[in-house]
Amino acid sequence: MTGTRTDPPRAPRPARPVRARAVPDSGPPTAELILPVDQLTAIRRELTADTTELATASQWFESDPLWFKRAVFYEIHLRGFADGNADGIGDFVGLTERLDYLSWLGVDCIWLLPMYESPLRDGGYDISDYLRVHHDYGTVDDFVAFVDAAHQRGIRVIADMVMNHTSIDHQWFQEARTPGSPKRDWYVWSDTVERYQDARIIFVDTETSNWTWDPVAGAYYWHRFFSHQPDLNYDNPEVREAMLDVLRYWLDSGLDGFRLDAVPYLFEREGTSCENLPETHAYLKDVRRAIDAEYADRVLLAEANQWPSDVVEYFDGGGECHMAFHFPLMPRMFMAMRRDDAMPIIEILDQTPAIPANTQWGLFLRNHDELTLEMVTDDERDYMYAEYAKDPLMKLNLGIRRRLAPLLDNGRDEIELVTAILFSLPGSPVLYYGDEIGMGDNIYLGDRDGVRTPMQWTGDRNAGFSRADFARLYLPPLMDPVYGYQAVNVEAQLRTPTSLLRWVHRFIDMRKDHPVFGQGSYEALRPSNPRIFAHVRRLDDDIVLAVHNVARSAQAVELDLSGFEGMVPEEMFGRARFPRIGQLPYLLTLAGRGFFWFQLRKDDDD
Ligand code: GLC
Ligand code: CA
Repeated sequence: MTGTRTDPPRAPRPARPVRARAVPDSGPPTAELILPVDQLTAIRRELTADTTELATASQWFESDPLWFKRAVFYEIHLRGFADGNADGIGDFVGLTERLDYLSWLGVDCIWLLPMYESPLRDGGYDISDYLRVHHDYGTVDDFVAFVDAAHQRGIRVIADMVMNHTSIDHQWFQEARTPGSPKRDWYVWSDTVERYQDARIIFVDTETSNWTWDPVAGAYYWHRFFSHQPDLNYDNPEVREAMLDVLRYWLDSGLDGFRLDAVPYLFEREGTSCENLPETHAYLKDVRRAIDAEYADRVLLAEANQWPSDVVEYFDGGGECHMAFHFPLMPRMFMAMRRDDAMPIIEILDQTPAIPANTQWGLFLRNHDELTLEMVTDDERDYMYAEYAKDPLMKLNLGIRRRLAPLLDNGRDEIELVTAILFSLPGSPVLYYGDEIGMGDNIYLGDRDGVRTPMQWTGDRNAGFSRADFARLYLPPLMDPVYGYQAVNVEAQLRTPTSLLRWVHRFIDMRKDHPVFGQGSYEALRPSNPRIFAHVRRLDDDIVLAVHNVARSAQAVELDLSGFEGMVPEEMFGRARFPRIGQLPYLLTLAGRGFFWFQLRKDDDD
């Protein structure tokens, strides 16, 4: 090794066929082009001069830079969704076959967990090749075909992108281990573990330090997550450029954006927590500028598990990420339910700063990880553990590894109520696969696998997820009498008009009829009854009053609606009209865990 640079600084982009999508004037495509990616990229770049033209040429829906503000997102663990080739593992072919289901459900955007080549020691968040699809899931062509098929149904697709770290198996890291290698500086090395001592450890159940000794390298390498996930060194311009090229590669393949995994940790600086650093924000803004210049209607969704005041920095006046998850809100919805008290929700929303008009919160109840309790106080965490993790096996790191339905003791009213609260708030809801049918979890499986079991499609063998032998499945489907696939599955719930699935479907439909939920203003009401969570959403003439009783018992509430005097509340599902709003406080009674959504109409409205 001479130490001189022999590699080209950019990640090589292998030529591969990509299907270009034809103009979607009416109905399905009539023409398909097969072009090598570089040629296609060149064509798209030429078109970028006029972004409107680019948008029409590459999408089945109308160009709309703010589409994500009104979208319902659906998170999919590819491995667990549908197995198309009977090897026991979900894949793109299987997922493509299930697109009609998602389209029926009303999903606007699919979020895919990492689909890249990986040894899967962290569910694919340990990437060993950014430019390849994991061999279990198919090929890049399968991916492109899937995105095309989704777009034809008006569904957009974003995917996880892990910028912060790679797998130790990544070729970059393997090269970097050799002292003097041109890749050496792509990762963060140290001779001692004394550096960056102010950075917390995130995976407290498995890791004792953010440094791990590498005998080949003769040095410690830095990692914020598992020790098999070395952090990339973003101080190195080659890394910054290589990652931008990775993003371009997938955007060129038709992807509509990324969930930027673990994004607060890109840079390290001595004497800081190494989170949310100005350098990290500066790089993300560079990424945003590059994407805006080259592509239309794409979205960056930040996974920043931080306090609202820190998370809003990721919007930075609308010039950084388009979206960010609201992590602290999530545990507080569960806290409110258990305490019969709306205060936890009200308080965190009070602490949430306003965000730029071209950005949006991603709101969720559950996801593929443990229900994280990092953004709560110690007392609140103790409370959550005591109430929601009665079996120690349910705990993981600083969180609880359970799904939505079991967390709420499978209470239908409870599931409906938290879903209603989620859907009523300013932000775009993100559903986790299987929660729409009330799937359960398996706390006896390791790490977070218990919330990643096969999607339950039918009551048939392997839950209709795979035709493989049972023993070959990547994880066993749930088979217990309450949550097992014979009791809980899509097919049965489709047949039952009163099922949770049918209810969620109607709910999504309702939300989509009212852009006010995604784009309207939010105004909290302060009823004296602390068990009631009520607020008003407003977008022009569309005014929605949402009133939720988080308590188990029936409640009465008097709401100050003087600002709406003379208007008539119309319940949004059944369209029943309630008494006109007068000068006195407006009295409502709600069943335990009941809620009302009203549209406030002028008296003479139809
Ligand atoms: C994110 C992912 C999680 C993963 C971690 C490390 O928090 O959601 O699943 O383990 O990043 O990449
Ligand atoms: Ca398969």
